[in-house]
Amino acid sequence: MIEIKNLNYTYRVSGKHAVQNLSFTIEKGEVFGLLGPSGAGKTTTQRLVIGLLSGYQGSVKIMGTERSAYKKEFFEEIGIAFDFPNLYLKLTAKENLDLLSSYYKNKRYDSLELLEKVGLLPDKDKKVQDFSKGMKMRLNFIRSLMHDPKILFFDEPTSGLDPVNAKIIKDMILELKSEGKTIFLTTHNMTVAEQLCDRVAFMVDGKIPVIDAPKQLMIEYGDKVVNITSGAKESEQKHSFKLDHIGTDHQFIELIQSGTVRTIHSKEATLEEVFIRLTGKELI
Ligand SMILES: Nc1ncnc2c1ncn2[C@@H]1O[C@H](COP(=O)(O)OP(=O)(O)OP(=O)(O)O)[C@@H](O)[C@H]1O
Ligand SMILES: [Mg+2]
Repeated sequence: MIEIKNLNYTYRVSGKHAVQNLSFTIEKGEVFGLLGPSGAGKTTTQRLVIGLLSGYQGSVKIMGTERSAYKKEFFEEIGIAFDFPNLYLKLTAKENLDLLSSYYKNKRYDSLELLEKVGLLPDKDKKVQDFSKGMKMRLNFIRSLMHDPKILFFDEPTSGLDPVNAKIIKDMILELKSEGKTIFLTTHNMTVAEQLCDRVAFMVDGKIPVIDAPKQLMIEYGDKVVNITSGAKESEQKHSFKLDHIGTDHQFIELIQSGTVRTIHSKEATLEEVFIRLTGKELI
């Protein structure tokens, strides 16, 4: 659905080479995530794919069409929710949705149905200027779905949301995936990446060194370990053993037999640990 080859982009004002030689594809029905710290170039990449920044080098194709040949109808096929909601503040939630859907030929969703899904039905007639940030985020999210597009771009879809509302959005993304939509999202939240993405691209300093399924990355690069504390509380000792071949690890067996073990926990590598290991950067 999306094909990117040797994509490069430099912001003219700052001279920042924000996207450096990216190549990747996103398949139909896939949830693909760009995971990286602030300033990595995630938003810039999405803006380039959608067609909002000019002066790039390389090739960007959506559904086989080169970016330079995108036509007006093309925007019927894509839905966009950026992390900075640009809603009409003087209009109500319902008016915002209805106004937007009037621009499109495809009109599958009823605004009330979508408002209900994200818990905003009671606020449908409230002006958006009186909305909290989380309410604006949810409205912004459903606004991208009104015309039932095939490809969805979500920039930090759960940022600034409390756990309950973040879950509503995450569940909706999984529902969209089950309907066969192609979803391209950005996040600096590894839990979001782990829970939602079929494949994730680690992005740092404008580059993508790794793309794979989150599970695969955790298996391939993460160590499963057993953490043990032993000894008296005042002089507690910490030990860590790799789970592989633990049955033949003499130090481990001696420790278990010593009768001094206080706690024992097995732990899998998190996606965050794999990210730090592969990129040398924290996900902040
Ligand atoms: N309009 C702009 N003009 C100049 N430089 C920019 C502009 N927008 C972004 N940049 C720079 O490009 C780099 C990538 O920014 P981008 O917004 O794509 O990062 P991001 O990964 O989306 O970060 P965040 O997680 O904070 O949203 C940063 O160094 C940023 O300072
Ligand atoms: Mg961003």
